Amino acid sequence: MNKHIILLPGDGIGREIVESAVQVLKAVAGEFGHTFTMEEHAIGGDAVDKFGTPLPDTTVKACRNADAILLGAVGGPKWDGVPADRRPEKGLLGIRKALGLFANLRPVKGFPSLLHASPLKESVIEGSDILIIRELTGGLYFGTPSERRDNGNAVVDTLAYQREEMERIIDKAFQSARLRRRHLTSVDKANVLESSRLWREIVEEKKQDYPDVAVEHLLVDAAAMKLITNPNQFDVMVTENMFGDILSDEASVLTGSLGMLPSASIRSDGTGLYEPVHGSAPDIAGQGMANPLGTILSAALMLRHSFGMETEAAAIERAVRECLDQGYRTADLDTQGGQVTGTQQVTDAVVENLTVKS
Ligand code: NAI
Ligand code: MG
Repeated sequence: MNKHIILLPGDGIGREIVESAVQVLKAVAGEFGHTFTMEEHAIGGDAVDKFGTPLPDTTVKACRNADAILLGAVGGPKWDGVPADRRPEKGLLGIRKALGLFANLRPVKGFPSLLHASPLKESVIEGSDILIIRELTGGLYFGTPSERRDNGNAVVDTLAYQREEMERIIDKAFQSARLRRRHLTSVDKANVLESSRLWREIVEEKKQDYPDVAVEHLLVDAAAMKLITNPNQFDVMVTENMFGDILSDEASVLTGSLGMLPSASIRSDGTGLYEPVHGSAPDIAGQGMANPLGTILSAALMLRHSFGMETEAAAIERAVRECLDQGYRTADLDTQGGQVTGTQQVTDAVVENLTVKS
């Protein structure tokens, strides 16, 4: 297959980790006979320096014509004082909005050789492998009115959704469950919120279309508790914007390090933006010590969700697991039982595992 990928390295460690993922994508292309053309564009502080805006029109245009986008991270102390319209994160929010990327996917998987790095008991997290799907463009974070009233002594926020906005994210969740263990947990607060009651109705309607997927409803408070006491009960979880924001951060404690976590923001036609969950890590930028695995795993998500390349995605994930089993560790990971290696050595190990074993 031929695919066109836009690279947005951004700021801080962004360039180093995107370069690592590019090496892995090239290895996949070689092993599996694909052609990935890659074109770099500016975003964030990098774009402010070069073009005076965090999201140049040329970047938006290139992303609109891409099959997928791989982003590093944006921001850093250098741009802390700039006016609001030139803040680096405006670039990231702007590109998500410009492309209508409504589904945020965050897989959370405890790698066997990192089990000891989580504050949770190994017996609890062992084997956990969850995909959290969060609605990204509606709900409480976007509803209007959202304002102070009565001289600042009263306040209103609005949780608003259209049926179609709920249907498309719920469909995405069922489809994702089909590619995994066919179990879907829908999280809501249907005992209190009207929006959650419509959400639950839609899940019940949609499940007729996916009879091979087992569906369970959980209230968000119970889900929050079960996520860290019995994570193995979950396969795919789907929820609205704010619940997803909170649950996905909570679930990150299952894995041990921020540097390990990938994410995808996608829309129905498969176009997606892929990025690690962490930021630009200015404290370690330019030192060759950033953990590239969150970005490499984001590239795997790109293959799976934008290109339909499940075998290739799984090959990257296996190569990462083996790299950790072999003892390669960047400094952010607990190095007990392994030695500290740099970004390039970890990347080389992943590429090696890919090309030898595929
Ligand atoms: P951060 O995620 O950049 O760093 C937090 C800590 O984790 C730091 O000690 C950092 O060195 C470490 N870390 C993060 N990623 C790592 C990796 N791959 N390998 C090794 N260590 C890693 O968050 P922080 O420090 O709050 O923010 C730094 C800048 O990044 C800020 O300007 C912030 O606005 C921006 N940011 C950007 C995001 C994005 O582009 N999506 C998300 C979060 C923050
Ligand atoms: Mg959050």
